[in-house]
Amino acid sequence: MKFKNLFNILKVLPLFLLIISCGSEEVNDGPIIIPVAKVQAAFNMSISSTDPNVLLLDNRTVGTGDFTSKWDFGKGGSFVLDQPGIEEVRYDTDGTFSVRLIVENSAGLTVDAKTVIVDSKSGGICPNGVCGSTNSSILKDAAATFFVGNITRSSRVNSGGKHTELLKTYFSSITSEYEMKMDRMHPSEGNFDFTAADAIVNFGVENGINVHGHALIWHNATPDWVKNFSGSDAEFEVMVKNYIVTTVTRYKGKIASWDVVNEAIDDGSGNPLRNSIFKQKMGDDYIKKCYQWAREADPDCLLFYNDYNMASTPSKRAAMFKIVDSLGDLIDGVGAQMHINYNFPSKANIQAVADGTVSRGLKLHFAELDIRANPDNNQTSLTAERANLQKAKFAEVVKIYNSIPLENKYALTVWGLRDNETWLTDFWGHIDWPLMFNEDYSKKPAYDGFIEGLQ
Ligand code: G3I
Repeated sequence: MKFKNLFNILKVLPLFLLIISCGSEEVNDGPIIIPVAKVQAAFNMSISSTDPNVLLLDNRTVGTGDFTSKWDFGKGGSFVLDQPGIEEVRYDTDGTFSVRLIVENSAGLTVDAKTVIVDSKSGGICPNGVCGSTNSSILKDAAATFFVGNITRSSRVNSGGKHTELLKTYFSSITSEYEMKMDRMHPSEGNFDFTAADAIVNFGVENGINVHGHALIWHNATPDWVKNFSGSDAEFEVMVKNYIVTTVTRYKGKIASWDVVNEAIDDGSGNPLRNSIFKQKMGDDYIKKCYQWAREADPDCLLFYNDYNMASTPSKRAAMFKIVDSLGDLIDGVGAQMHINYNFPSKANIQAVADGTVSRGLKLHFAELDIRANPDNNQTSLTAERANLQKAKFAEVVKIYNSIPLENKYALTVWGLRDNETWLTDFWGHIDWPLMFNEDYSKKPAYDGFIEGLQ
């Protein structure tokens, strides 16, 4: 068709359509009905200026025609019809709550939702969902959103004394330095000895201090009878399962978390896993079996994988995340020991541990922090200059930890109270000052560094 003719047709087409519509028999001459649109729910929320545990909810929904509004305060129970004015809702327990406003009209319903985080250590409802630290100079109070831990021994919690006093004053979590490992709790075949473990756990429970269980399976704390097990591999596996189930069940509801397996990754051999007796007798999937047994024994307990050099050795960090990924929902958290130096590893490598853990939606436990001030063994005393460098490293580590999201926080545990008690002296064979307190129990600049990291 010639273009010119097409143009002429298009020119008269609208007139043609108008005639048809007017000439049609059915002419709709009623009111034009505009379809009803859903009304978009909207609300504002703020914290009461007189009570930090009270949330003020203001329904800001705007819409024409009739619609109904109802609240879900995120605390369970049935919906609450919206009343004129501001709703005042009290949140007495710590946690994360989803507040929803459901608005419905004839066209359907819409929802507006906001998250509220309540943290008693932060003083109640956290403004804008960010729970900040308080300005306290007491570690466990200043660290408003995670446990600050230290290690202890049954001898110390039983005798009380200055060590126990400082533990109760400054810390909100405890880890047994050595008495909750297999060599101590399962000293011989068929026999358990929970005396020391009971003392430590009971001390935590009686004083409202979190107890982190460390460590069910560790090649360095495996009793000789296990290393020299005379039974079959199948009997070995039954023994290990019985040990894990017996121990985890015993402390169910008392121990919040366990390092189920500690330091399974081999250093430098190129083989991902140490050739421990557990690997030899149960195969590479011994790790998964141990987490499965622990999970079945106490489904409410947080299960961690714990290892060292997570920040200083990227290849080992990668191997750790590979193990963690293989465990799927059998694991809840990563324990990075953090036995580090005042000048190593870098902030970026420490941050990489946090990032990898957070990206997996797991809890992070900086589990055994100590910061060597004399890694090169060229210091005979802790100089002010070196003490301040150590302080800065404490602040750096704490700041990284305190910056991770609330849901990934668990605890930051320092591996010892006083410098003179550190395991490092024996391990490295020379003096060091890696902790936050002097031998006379006075605080070091490192303590102030921890507080600084929380600001
Ligand atoms: O205190 C007792 C003493 O009364 C007894 O006579 C003697 C012999 O049985 O043992 C003494 O206990 C020793 C204890 O340290 C306290 O010094 C244990 O033998 C010894 O095995 C224990 O070593 C601990 C080590 O783990 C093994 O369990 C260290 O304190 C502890 O700091 C160290 O911690 C490990 C972590 O669990 C895992 N990450 C590495 C870290 C350092 O190795």
